[in-house]
Amino acid sequence: MMKRIGMLTSGGDCQALNAAMRGVVKSLSSNLNELEVYGFYEGYKGLIYGNYRLLTAKDFSGILTMGGTILGTSRQPFKLMRTPDENGLDKVEAMKHTYHKLRLDCLVILGGNGTQKTANLLREEGLNIIHLPKTIDNDIWGTDVTFGFQSAINIATEAIDCIHTTAASHNRVFIVEVMGHKVGWLTLYAGVAAGADIILLPEIPYDIEKVVKAIQKRSQAGKGFTILAVAEGAISKEDAKLSKKEYKEKLKKRKYPSVSYEIAARIQERTGSEVRVTVPGHTQRGGSPCPYDRVLCTRLGAAAGKLILKEDYGYMVGMINGETKKVPLEEVAGKLKMVEPDSKMVQEAKLIGISFGD
Ligand code: F6P
Repeated sequence: MMKRIGMLTSGGDCQALNAAMRGVVKSLSSNLNELEVYGFYEGYKGLIYGNYRLLTAKDFSGILTMGGTILGTSRQPFKLMRTPDENGLDKVEAMKHTYHKLRLDCLVILGGNGTQKTANLLREEGLNIIHLPKTIDNDIWGTDVTFGFQSAINIATEAIDCIHTTAASHNRVFIVEVMGHKVGWLTLYAGVAAGADIILLPEIPYDIEKVVKAIQKRSQAGKGFTILAVAEGAISKEDAKLSKKEYKEKLKKRKYPSVSYEIAARIQERTGSEVRVTVPGHTQRGGSPCPYDRVLCTRLGAAAGKLILKEDYGYMVGMINGETKKVPLEEVAGKLKMVEPDSKMVQEAKLIGISFGD
């Protein structure tokens, strides 16, 4: 049997994108007489503008441990997919045209939430799609875990670990800002793993007075330092009451580079303690995938290959209770998996004394 597949990585990159593509290609090439893989550059952009390359087995060799993506990526907002580009080009029609011109059997799309919505749109337009859930944010519905998440936890945890030793020497308050604008999975896991004292997440709006109290409680107990793990999207209780639009406007006028600096200023005002902010930023998406992600991606890739061999399309391949599973794209596209404020994990973190500022 012969298959002709297209592949693209879209949205913010993360570790293990290459490992996942390798998994797909290896599973297919081991089971087919002939395989053609077209790699589209920079995500949907490559599919829209016909910017691609025929890849060979060599391209997938030695990339299991390599971070980033051999195809490059870009953000192409889903909400603009139906808006013609600056030259009046209909992007959806252009993508369909490229797909049909190359006579693809299917398109393997690696990406997060936005990517998934466009993948589902292409499915509705009649293309054969398989989606693989990548993101350090772990916010994709229908899979217990996304790839990139565990690797990013390792990096964010290490950042907080390093802060621990210097914080203890200096008797200061330290804030480590962890990635995640909409969801706090990464901050929650890295915060717990590194023993942060206070964890602030977008899903659990904080009260600055409660944060200050938690710091004071530690000082009274003779602990000279406090470490906060703060998600990029942490939000105060007052701000959580604003409409999305009002909050966006407020953020535009914010005089601090990010939420952590604002929280630092508030803590400093109220406690007089020295506060330092560390932002590991995009290091959290960089470097080599951790072993967990390599295994996850090899399994997701192989399971995707199996679906392609069976010509069973229109799914995301997720990991549920330790098993790879096909999940209909239409059921998951557009849904965000968030931290439940009352989840067992949050309750248990509270039980050991971690404050969420609520
Ligand atoms: O979605 C992944 C992510 O790394 C988020 O955690 C972060 O908020 C965002 O992307 C950063 O986006 P960009 O790479 O466009 O700065």
